[in-house]
Amino acid sequence: MSQNYKIAVLSGDGIGPEIMDEALKVLDAVEKKYDVNFERTFANVGGIGIDKEGKALPDSTVEICKNSGAILFGSVGGPKWETLPPEEQPERAALLPLRKIFGLFCNFRPAIVFPALTASSSLKESVIEGGFDLLVVRELTGGIYFASPKGIEGEGGERTGFDTMKYSVAEIERITHVAFEAARKRGKKVCSIDKANVLSTSVLWREVVERIAKEYPDVELTSMYVDNAAMQLVRWPKQFDVMLCSNMFGDIISDEAAMLTGSLGMLPSASLAEGSFGMYEPSGGSAPDIAGQGIANPIAQILSTSMMLRYSFDMIEAADAIDAAVEKVLDDGYRTADIYQGTEGEKKVGTAEIGDAIIACMS
Ligand code: IPM
Ligand code: MG
Repeated sequence: MSQNYKIAVLSGDGIGPEIMDEALKVLDAVEKKYDVNFERTFANVGGIGIDKEGKALPDSTVEICKNSGAILFGSVGGPKWETLPPEEQPERAALLPLRKIFGLFCNFRPAIVFPALTASSSLKESVIEGGFDLLVVRELTGGIYFASPKGIEGEGGERTGFDTMKYSVAEIERITHVAFEAARKRGKKVCSIDKANVLSTSVLWREVVERIAKEYPDVELTSMYVDNAAMQLVRWPKQFDVMLCSNMFGDIISDEAAMLTGSLGMLPSASLAEGSFGMYEPSGGSAPDIAGQGIANPIAQILSTSMMLRYSFDMIEAADAIDAAVEKVLDDGYRTADIYQGTEGEKKVGTAEIGDAIIACMS
């Protein structure tokens, strides 16, 4: 009997459903090639969750996720829901509780310049030449995002907004180990990002990271203040391998790193719990302006699916095959509109066509 894996499919809003279709086609191809079955249960999330079930993260969706081995997430949000109070808006009201409920403390955000796409980067050719490949490891369930107290209190000019930034030794240790383990399998360098010249959380963060680093003598550790790191990223991104960040700093640094690759629609991400459970989603947004036209780039969703196979189901060979197929299709000149530059050898294609080309390369 073939191995069965349960997946909760949360396509969401905007381009979510159409790029998810391509990822699911890739899963069909994996099923054919390997002896596995992906049992998919579809559930509402984001704006469509609000419209159909009154909440960005309906209880029925949480239940389906609890009965699955992984969540494949599309994208959420759009103009229709932008007038809601911030805490009810699809992105925040879906993502933050999902992270908390499922203990998704570790967020992998790779930023890779594909050799075929170096011209799309906002950086000079001389800086980007040969590409770069860095991994932001972001702590995802602690820090200023979740610690209490937080709120807005008082009256008039004394009305005050406040958030609390907090990290325990255990939280820092846990994410640090993940970053060092990841670095071991890559370039063997960790740069820990903090603001230890100002923040107490960062003083503790740096102390713990330096202690844990001694358990990984084969991995080089540096620490960098977050302002300097933001600058160094645009100056010389190739100096980085793994960037270890707290929740807030990782939010900012990962967007910057992603944009440097010039291809926001190409980058996947994984949010992992202890054990094998994870949630996998593209880094780009729901792009409501191009939704439903069949022109969105499904590569980030497809690469997120590859991360799911790699991290939740330990299907390394299948994940490598997907990654290689994506690279091959780019080398062959296939381009969706967002990465099309009009140079010789490029073929402008739609969402389904590039998905089909990737699948053809896999068999
Ligand atoms: C992200 C997003 C979220 C975050 C928002 C939408 C809550 O920016 O995933 O990076 O800040 O974590
Ligand atoms: Mg962000």
